[in-house]
Amino acid sequence: MLKKILSFLLLVSLSVPFAAKADEGMWLPMLVKRLNYTDMQKKGLQLTAEEIYSVNNSSLKDAIVQFGGFCTGEFISPEGLLITNHHCGYGSIQSHSTTEHDYLTDGFWATSKDQELPNEGLFVDILVRMDDVTSKVLEGITPATTQEERAQLVAQRTKAIAQEASENNQYVTYVRDFYNGNEFYLFVYNRYTDVRLVGAPPQSVGKYGGDTDNWMWPRHTGDFSMFRVYMAPDGKPAPYSKTNVPYKPKHFLPISLSDKEQGDFAMVFGFPGRTKRFMTSHGLKLEVNQLNKSRIKLRDQKLNLWKEDMDKDAATRIKYASKYASTSNYYKYSIGQNAGIKRMHTIEGKIADEDKFQAWANADAQRKATYGNVLGDIASAYATIEKYNLGSIYLNEAVLGTEAMMLGYRFIPLYNSLKAGNAAATQKAIEDLRPRVESHFKDYNLPTDKKVFAAMMKAYSEDIAKDQQPEAFKSLVSKYKGNFSKLADYVYGNSFLMSEQKVNDFLKNPSQKKLEADPAFQLINAIMMNYVTNIAPKMAESNAILDKANRLYVAGLRLMNPDKVYYPDANSTLRLSYGTVKDYSPQDGVMYNYYTTLDGVMAKEDPTNEEFVVPAKLKQLYQAKDYGRYANSKGELVVNFITDNDITGGNSGSPVINGKGELMGLAFDGNWEAMTGDLVYDPDYKRCINVDIRYVLFIIDKYAGATNLIQEMTLVNDGNPGAADAATAEVKTKTPQAELLNATMEEANEKLRAGKTEFKIEKKKGDAKVKLQVKD
Ligand code: ARG
Repeated sequence: MLKKILSFLLLVSLSVPFAAKADEGMWLPMLVKRLNYTDMQKKGLQLTAEEIYSVNNSSLKDAIVQFGGFCTGEFISPEGLLITNHHCGYGSIQSHSTTEHDYLTDGFWATSKDQELPNEGLFVDILVRMDDVTSKVLEGITPATTQEERAQLVAQRTKAIAQEASENNQYVTYVRDFYNGNEFYLFVYNRYTDVRLVGAPPQSVGKYGGDTDNWMWPRHTGDFSMFRVYMAPDGKPAPYSKTNVPYKPKHFLPISLSDKEQGDFAMVFGFPGRTKRFMTSHGLKLEVNQLNKSRIKLRDQKLNLWKEDMDKDAATRIKYASKYASTSNYYKYSIGQNAGIKRMHTIEGKIADEDKFQAWANADAQRKATYGNVLGDIASAYATIEKYNLGSIYLNEAVLGTEAMMLGYRFIPLYNSLKAGNAAATQKAIEDLRPRVESHFKDYNLPTDKKVFAAMMKAYSEDIAKDQQPEAFKSLVSKYKGNFSKLADYVYGNSFLMSEQKVNDFLKNPSQKKLEADPAFQLINAIMMNYVTNIAPKMAESNAILDKANRLYVAGLRLMNPDKVYYPDANSTLRLSYGTVKDYSPQDGVMYNYYTTLDGVMAKEDPTNEEFVVPAKLKQLYQAKDYGRYANSKGELVVNFITDNDITGGNSGSPVINGKGELMGLAFDGNWEAMTGDLVYDPDYKRCINVDIRYVLFIIDKYAGATNLIQEMTLVNDGNPGAADAATAEVKTKTPQAELLNATMEEANEKLRAGKTEFKIEKKKGDAKVKLQVKD
């Protein structure tokens, strides 16, 4: 009992987002100097704040990109070589794969720049600067301003600020809100759209452990892939062209070959997507009972249907590989999160926070006037939203989760412009559709999607309140007497949206009549119209109440705890988190080490399970212990390691950087014990799972033989005698300069200064300290 009370108290004090002693927080880089720098130094940071974030001089931030809008990547060479996760590059790798050239299974390595593969639609955003524009956005807005007026003013002003900062659309710009609408920051980016695939390991390395190991520690995944960013010869962003040249980053990360020890400083720089750390217990209940629950149910069906067909046919397996991976990712996340919320008493912790807030608000008449009703408003807004929420969740997960319905949905703008007789809008709608149609059919298998459609429509029909379903849908269901496979036969058998040829013919000569007569379009249009006219308006009023109440809740919390430094929820903007290399205890009596090795890869091997196949070449290297300079000082090949950095989805591919600004690894996942991490940071359990950069280099160099890529990078090794020995051995066998390692540091440096390769040899406390740098 005592233990229960204790753990409950612990929980309570942790459930609102402020940085206590824990390494919690996703900080805005421009504020690091003021808010975090001293603490970071204490933990082992050796860089200056300016070296981390500077607008005028090159700094770490210039090496970090938002990759494709959904992941993070970082430059590791002066020639625009970029590294991110395998699961971030997965869509691109998949799109270049065929049954003849199956890069998913076999991996891909460009041995020269002309072999690199362009990726339509892929882009990277590189931050130019960020500015606090709160006072501009909120100018003249007072507590007396109505929520509606405020929302309007905020929308207008943020749009105008972003537009002006874009300097005639030269930059990609936007203003995002922070702390639930209490603060506003402008972001200015250069967007580069010529991003080419350079290298990817086979998925038996890059996705080793598959969905079984996903969201889990201990882990053994080589989750990386490489791209190169290109620019016009004048340095500006430009669409793919043969005349483009490699991008020259203002900064790229040197790579550390050193061992990592428990307690070592680690920072993660990247683009976390979304956290809900300020979400109240009322919101959380809907997350558990409606969002996660529906997602688990619907995705479970969809994944099984996809898998059935993927296992039958290699072409279908390739077509659905990427869709399957991303659908299963948040399927498993939702399962883990719901279990975690129960186990960790997350809702109870939130309720305790809210009780404290209410008591604080009630203790003062003036405070009561502003904050006294905040939680009551939140509760009643959610009570309304709860009634309609499933309709909007099912729209996303079930209806638009069917590929043909999604394609039909894309035709709505065209339909509207045809109906309005607007020729210019029609033309634009057609142009917008073309690439979508192409990518839809490239990876489409009609019989598979038809089965999914039948299952999803059945769920929609059964789970959504009848008065929230459109008449057109209900009458279809009764016409087919609830036989959804017959209903699917009818819709898929009679719609032109099922054939690429017919869709393209239609786009040449589009007609409103033909769209209106199409059963698939009729259906999606009816469901959308029903949503827009019957469901969304019912939620709109409650959402506006929520916007205001959530804003006041955060403002109140900050007032209530003036000494706490609160950090804002993640919102896909550049953040820095810092912490240390750290093991953890997943449960009583069990301790997890902070790193895994190739031995563990071998221990998990199962040739009969595609998730645990170990490639023959990797086995050979393991048997020969041929790890070269990539082994640790014990001679092990470290595969993954963990830190307590505060990250979330979108951080995937983020660099894990040591105190000197060198790359130690790439963040790629979170752990099962902390699946509630997007709601509450728990220092005992929350870990960031990273691939060790030495495993990445080992795969590139020893496994793939892509030494051309290693040569572009700057490898640094200091203070790791074991690796220094390995490096020495490597150098001895490989380069004529080997003998120089026996010379003094001065001699060595002098002789090598002119060359491309530079070795610095230092003697420190009797240990040979070899600095190995490949210079441009
Ligand atoms: N859980 C990882 C993340 O959200 C993605 C891992 C992808 N791998 C997979 N087996 N689906 O960043």
